Amino acid sequence: MIQIKITTSEITMLEDLNNLVIRSQADRVLTLTLNRPHALNALNTALLMELAGLLRSADKDDTVGAVVITGNQKAFAAGADVKEMASMNATDLHRDPRVQAWADIGRFKKPVIAAVNGFCLGGGCELAMCADYIIAGHQASFGQPEVKLGIMPGAGGTQRLIRLVGPAKARQMMLTGATINAKQALSAGLIAEVTAAEIVLEKAQAQAKQIAHYAPIAVAAIKDCYNQALDLELQQGLAYERRSYCVVSSSEDRNEGIDAFLNKRHPVYKNR
Ligand code: CAA
Repeated sequence: MIQIKITTSEITMLEDLNNLVIRSQADRVLTLTLNRPHALNALNTALLMELAGLLRSADKDDTVGAVVITGNQKAFAAGADVKEMASMNATDLHRDPRVQAWADIGRFKKPVIAAVNGFCLGGGCELAMCADYIIAGHQASFGQPEVKLGIMPGAGGTQRLIRLVGPAKARQMMLTGATINAKQALSAGLIAEVTAAEIVLEKAQAQAKQIAHYAPIAVAAIKDCYNQALDLELQQGLAYERRSYCVVSSSEDRNEGIDAFLNKRHPVYKNR
């Protein structure tokens, strides 16, 4: 009988081949790594469904306090999978399961940081914009190049980009399909921080860890309120914030946080 020895790293590689999204968790931070490097992490249906499923599970998992979504050094994601799109007809688009996947990704309740290196284009940029904020490497590039393919952004790009960078820059990017670099994306307000490519993920995970150790009730309420700010008039938004503030203030974790501060100790939150 012939015995074949497989090392642990080879097993990991084999597993990685089957996982379009690689999942790892440490310190209450779930890191989801897009894993189609041969296609610059183009977001095909299977990958999007897997990502949405992992986020749905993470929403219910008390051991997850925050999420980092990342790609590799060459690409966060170069957009929807154009090869897959080419074979879709109008009926396929009507029944497209990606619509639900995108909705689930956009509705995820816990904080998400996108750690971006390389190409962040089309659906990739739309995915990054679903995150609460983006940290990018110096060589990252951002854009909505769909117009060059005779199509348009279809996963929230026309709505989210305009809210983040304002009408002038968003219209220019979407109508010309031009990409912007990380420095431009920072000054436009698309991303929160630019750093060396090698430490993008590390930084995102460190910030996610910090967030994940705050009181989950307070963190969830902050995210919920700033998301409401995009939909509500100011007075409605202020009233919404006030109600959320009262709810958060009646939590046990609020008493714990204040008591810990007053007694110069670290708080121990219980999500109550
Ligand atoms: N879909 C499918 N495959 C893609 C892809 C995509 N969006 N982007 C890159 N790839 C594939 C390429 O086809 C190529 O595969 P092969 O080796 O089998 O030919 C591989 O990834 C490497 O790509 P390139 O050789 O093109 O790499 P490059 O460094 O020369 O160029 C690039 C990089 C400028 C990003 C170029 O790949 C490109 O322009 N990609 C398409 C970007 C785009 O138009 N994105 C928008 C898609 S539509 C969309 O996202 C709709 C939506 O809103 C939901």
